[in-house]
Amino acid sequence: MSVLLHISDTHFGTEQAPVMAALLDLAAQQQPDLVVLSGDITQRARPAQFQAARAFVDRLGAPVLAIPGNHDIPLLDLRERLARPYARYAAAFGTDLEPVIAAPEWLVIGANTTRAWRHRNGDLSIAQIDRVARLLSSADPGQLRVVVVHQPLAVTEPRDRHHLLRGHDEALRVWAEAGADLLLGGHIHLPYTLALHGQARRLWVVQAGTAVSSRLRPGVPNSVNIVRWAPAQERCRVERWDFLVREQTFARTLATTLQPDREPVGA
Ligand SMILES: [Fe+2]
Ligand SMILES: [Fe+2]
Repeated sequence: MSVLLHISDTHFGTEQAPVMAALLDLAAQQQPDLVVLSGDITQRARPAQFQAARAFVDRLGAPVLAIPGNHDIPLLDLRERLARPYARYAAAFGTDLEPVIAAPEWLVIGANTTRAWRHRNGDLSIAQIDRVARLLSSADPGQLRVVVVHQPLAVTEPRDRHHLLRGHDEALRVWAEAGADLLLGGHIHLPYTLALHGQARRLWVVQAGTAVSSRLRPGVPNSVNIVRWAPAQERCRVERWDFLVREQTFARTLATTLQPDREPVGA
């Protein structure tokens, strides 16, 4: 069994110390093999915020695959934003904005969906969609195939439609055909696991809420996801863990069992 901890939208600068402590406890208890951080790592892309975020994720006890979110590009410093939009991000999280982690059980592919000139909306180019598809096509049957973006590829509420990643239709079609299993994202601070019907193969959008930030949607607590994958059983479990304010701890509030499609790609 492999364990992936999916966190998002930490928005360092608005982090909450008790929630961070509870998340460190959860990670120590669950011993993830990999941490995925799907963007909006900081609130204002300040160097000190990136440093605090880096120090925090380094304590989660597993390798971290991170991608930038729209908040990780300077907003008000226009010269920095247009000339060197990812310099501050790169100083803490590395220059690779589209990292890939491959292990016998996982193939996890990051895509940078932020655009410096368009601060909020996310975008996927045809070249990015094709790159991810090529990588997906090279996966082994035992690998869970995971793509990580920031803005959502599918939403559950009409009011979130304007947050949809530009290029989502094409990405879903191409990545389903190429064998994607899970599409992880954040941005709207609303956790859900959504089966996508009508594509060539079964795949799911898995959204994480905000892990530790006080920027909560009304009625939606801090949350993270834990993905467990047992290749031999061809079963994957996506668990949502919410922060309970009274108990000051994360607790599992929802678990969904998924059966990834293991028909050969192109069959
Ligand atoms: Fe966010
Ligand atoms: Fe965002």
